Amino acid sequence: MSIGNGEKPSKINNEDILDLTLRPKDWNNYIGQEALKQNLKVIIEAAKQRKEVPEHLLLYGNPGLGKTTLAHLIAQEIGTDIRITSGPAMEKAGDLAAILTNLTEGSILFVDEIHRLPRLVEECLYPAMEDFKLNLVLGRGPMARIMELNVPRFTLVGATTRLASISGPLRSRFGATFGLNFYETEDIKKILKRSSQILGIETEEEALHTIAKTSRFTPRIANHLLKRVRDFAQVRGEGKITQGISKSALAALEIDELGLTANDKRILEAVIHKFAGGPVGLKTLASATAEEEDTILDIYEPYLMRLGFIALTPRGRVATRLAFEHLGMKAPKNLF
Ligand code: ADE
Repeated sequence: MSIGNGEKPSKINNEDILDLTLRPKDWNNYIGQEALKQNLKVIIEAAKQRKEVPEHLLLYGNPGLGKTTLAHLIAQEIGTDIRITSGPAMEKAGDLAAILTNLTEGSILFVDEIHRLPRLVEECLYPAMEDFKLNLVLGRGPMARIMELNVPRFTLVGATTRLASISGPLRSRFGATFGLNFYETEDIKKILKRSSQILGIETEEEALHTIAKTSRFTPRIANHLLKRVRDFAQVRGEGKITQGISKSALAALEIDELGLTANDKRILEAVIHKFAGGPVGLKTLASATAEEEDTILDIYEPYLMRLGFIALTPRGRVATRLAFEHLGMKAPKNLF
């Protein structure tokens, strides 16, 4: 794995190393997303039989559902290298050119947060995706000239949390687009079981269920919670993750039995108290809660909607009867 040019250097800490350790290294250990896995395998196998590079692939889904992990597995299945970068890390067309010209033939270029590619870089990517060519502008003003460069054939795997923010021209250049869904609780339990085996932690079945229920149906969150509960088990218990330890750890972390944090509750309570249950628009809700609109869209809302606590109407989001009940409030009559 290599980090793309232009990517901000970042320190790798123990937590990152653990994340890498827990990441499945082959399809057999990649749990869930069955339909997506089968489709990807067919695309890759067909391309291999034709001795072509697979078409460019766009993956979308909430943070932590495993888009990067899938990109690694795609590279492994093809038997090729993977180069990793992200939309915001490529500030200039030159950053993209440096990455593309250094790719090995047939490799994967993974671009995370591809919806945040600067416009000029995105436009430079089009001919590279279509014909494996780069048109570089040399010089400025009347002396400027365009130089056409060939780049090695590659498969772009783009990942985004915001499908709607991908421009039409970019989207149309992907051969296939796949969404990652939230995981089933049973699949999260399997992921937790595998992770605890890798980490060498003894766990009670019931405790795994409790942690899975609070994981927001998201493997990354499940693994993070497992590590936090392990800390508690080590310091406050006898090392084993029991139901009692996991419940007290989650309570100490202020995460309720459905995985809601104080921040999720703040958003829900704002809709209920400040806007009489809604409907309320995104901008208004963001300023009332001092949250970024992007955070509401990417982090809070998808999960609250999945739980059925918030519903989107043409006039904005509304809190549902389930939300009132979960917060211990009486829901007004004639509510969803
Ligand atoms: N870690 C992150 N995503 C995973 C998955 N789908 N299966 C197993 N472990 C994972």
